[in-house]
Amino acid sequence: MVKVLMVCLGNICRSPLAEGILKSKVNLNEVTIDSAGTAAYHVGNLPDPRSIAVAKKHGIDITTQRARKFTVKDFDSFDFIYAMDQNNFDDILKLSRNKEDKKKVLLILNEVRPFQNNSVPDPYYGGDDGFENVYQMLNKACAEIASKL
Ligand code: 4NP
Repeated sequence: MVKVLMVCLGNICRSPLAEGILKSKVNLNEVTIDSAGTAAYHVGNLPDPRSIAVAKKHGIDITTQRARKFTVKDFDSFDFIYAMDQNNFDDILKLSRNKEDKKKVLLILNEVRPFQNNSVPDPYYGGDDGFENVYQMLNKACAEIASKL
C-alpha cells in the first residue's frame, strides 16, 4: 500500500481538493490518501463550501472529509507528503526529525513543472474563480502522481 498525504495551511481549501482528486484517479485498494493542515484553525471542520462546490462540479464528493492538523507521526504513516505551497513545505520540514522524513516532503506542482518550486495559490480570501484555478492545477498534478503510483 502506497500512502500519500496532501498538506496545505488550513486543510479546508487546497489539500481536501487534492485528496479528492487523487482518490478519483487511483485504485484505492492500492493507495491510501489523506490530507492535513499545518495550522489548527479549522480542525474538525468540513472543507470550505467553495472547495466542495468546485469538486462537485467536477464529479467529486469531498464532504466526508474533516480538517485535521499535520503531526510528526505523519512522517511515519505516509510515503509521500505533498505540500501545496512553499510555506507549507517549510513548515513541514521544520517538524522533520531526520533525512528519511525530509525525503518524503515534496512540492506538489513540481510534479507538473519539475524543479520550478511553484506554489498552489491560497484561494481562501479570493473569489470562486480562484477555486476553479486551484482545481485545474491540482488535477494536472494529481494526474502525474497517479501515473507514477
Ligand atoms: P487552505 O486555505 O490552506 O488551502 O485550506 C486556507 C484556509 C484557511 C485559512 C487560510 C488558508 N485561514 O487563514 O483561516
